[in-house]
Amino acid sequence: MRVLGIETSCDETGVALYCTERGLLAQALHSQVELHERYGGVVPELASRDHVRRLLPLVEEVLARAGIARSELEAIAWTEGPGLAGALLVGAGVGAAMAFALGVPGIGIHHLEGHLLSPLLSTDPPAFPFVALLVSGGHTQLMEVSGVGRYRLLGDTLDDAAGEAFDKSAKLLGLGYPGGPQIARLAAGGTAGRHALPRPMLHSDTLDFSFSGLKTAVATLVRRGLADDAARADLAAEIEAAIVEVLVAKSLAALRETGQRRLVVAGGVSANRRLRESLAAACAGSGACVHFPEPALCSDNGAMIAFAGALRLQHAESDALPRGRAIGGFVVQPRWPLESLPAA
Ligand code: KG4
Ligand code: ZN
Repeated sequence: MRVLGIETSCDETGVALYCTERGLLAQALHSQVELHERYGGVVPELASRDHVRRLLPLVEEVLARAGIARSELEAIAWTEGPGLAGALLVGAGVGAAMAFALGVPGIGIHHLEGHLLSPLLSTDPPAFPFVALLVSGGHTQLMEVSGVGRYRLLGDTLDDAAGEAFDKSAKLLGLGYPGGPQIARLAAGGTAGRHALPRPMLHSDTLDFSFSGLKTAVATLVRRGLADDAARADLAAEIEAAIVEVLVAKSLAALRETGQRRLVVAGGVSANRRLRESLAAACAGSGACVHFPEPALCSDNGAMIAFAGALRLQHAESDALPRGRAIGGFVVQPRWPLESLPAA
């Protein structure tokens, strides 16, 4: 089955073509980082308008690269939520219209399910069951995953997400958006431990996270004044170390509590090198293995949506497939708990 995947939940327009027999055939991505950079964060209305401009040319580009005609598409998948309502509507509108026009099944996909399943697209995919650490700009969750749609929430953030902690700290340091890669770059030239930041909830007996106190502590240090560039780099290294340490400790605790031996990490923050190295070392030390998405699939992309769509459609009864779903209209769900999804 050849599935076209469309991602427009935030500031990336992603399109990809996934084939259940041949794998990922082509993908294309347009990042809006430059568009939003000067505002220090994503401006929803600008995001929606840019998705409108970019989406159809990207669809054409993906089809051309794969050498597949539109009429050869067998299903369309788009991100239904969570995300920015206006941005989601662009992808859902185009996806549902294409499904209707081609008379093929169309399916709305949960963005986090896309992230969660993206490591399965790698050359060494993990088998179910596993513990998943979802770390993106809007979410920080630990889940026990026993199959497609079989998700049990183990822990969640009580306030800021890990990516948000990177982004807000970066802003306080006068760095651009998105903050994660910028903090990581600055941290590479600094030393953690020279500034003291808290490790929020490190020793709490739950698997929940809290990162807003970190931002307050960074703000205090910045207000007191940083002597020079070396001090800024040291602070960036300490911010990265604090976030990574908490993520690693809670992930290991989740493995212990569930008795699982596989950890799967996904979402934009899973691109962080320090996080990857620390998790790899910690898991090796405790006899568990850890899987990450391919670097290009860590942040938002169409491939994870096409792939999740293919898995869900493969599991569905063929007479239950939602053909030409646009007939009944389409929905987007800006807020949508992952645990509410039905099993495939
Ligand atoms: O999954 P994603 O692309 O979008 C959402 O669904 O939110 O995640 C974006 C988040 C941003 O907060 C960004 O700062 C963070 O991922 N991020 C990183 C790195 N690359 C992206 N954080 C730390 N280190 C990185 N290398
Ligand atoms: Zn995402």
